[in-house]
Amino acid sequence: MKPVDLTLKGLEPVPTPWNSDMLKGMMISSELIQKRVGELADEIDRSMPDDKPVVVLSLLSGAFLFTADLVRHWRFSIELDFMGVSSYGKNVASGELSWTHPMQIDLKEKHVLVIDDILDTGQTLRKVTDKLHLSQPASLRTCVLLRKERQQPSEHSVNADFVGFFIPDQFVVGYGLDFALQFRQLPFIGVLDAHAPHTAND
Ligand code: PRP
Repeated sequence: MKPVDLTLKGLEPVPTPWNSDMLKGMMISSELIQKRVGELADEIDRSMPDDKPVVVLSLLSGAFLFTADLVRHWRFSIELDFMGVSSYGKNVASGELSWTHPMQIDLKEKHVLVIDDILDTGQTLRKVTDKLHLSQPASLRTCVLLRKERQQPSEHSVNADFVGFFIPDQFVVGYGLDFALQFRQLPFIGVLDAHAPHTAND
């Protein structure tokens, strides 16, 4: 099934009690997220080979809610681990990733599915998959909830195998995504108001 394309969709009001002058609207409701997560889970389930162990590797911190909802759909056995990775200098050639939490699992000869919340420049997914290939997995696939449509093409361009939604190039928060560590707990995807007093200088 194709990703849901929201690139031309307008925003809805932020539901109570989550209203905040830092948010200018809701892009994806909790209900729509959960429906699409169920579809993605089915799609992955149907395509997952059963000849070798399956490792699900979730990228901290942004993918924690998406991972938790996705894996609860599955009845097949998985080994679940987390890898901490954080990016800075995203839009410059020297952009670096910092590894904040190492994975514990041996990936050799296993089917690996990497889960992240959003694919933006592609830097994170590109560098993570390059690193994981060194561990010689039997297969390596990627799943992201959101894929941002970028106005500026990125040098790191990379595709994900499973995508929940295509979204426009806006600063999104909620359902794992943060602004200055806030908003990760929202059950929906909202859009930050860049002109709000607390965000204007960040
Ligand atoms: C965010 C997000 C992705 C990455 C995507 O992580 O969780 O991992 O950026 O951006 P990219 O495609 O441009 O690399 P961030 O570094 O903000 O850390 P976090 O997950 O802890 O919020």
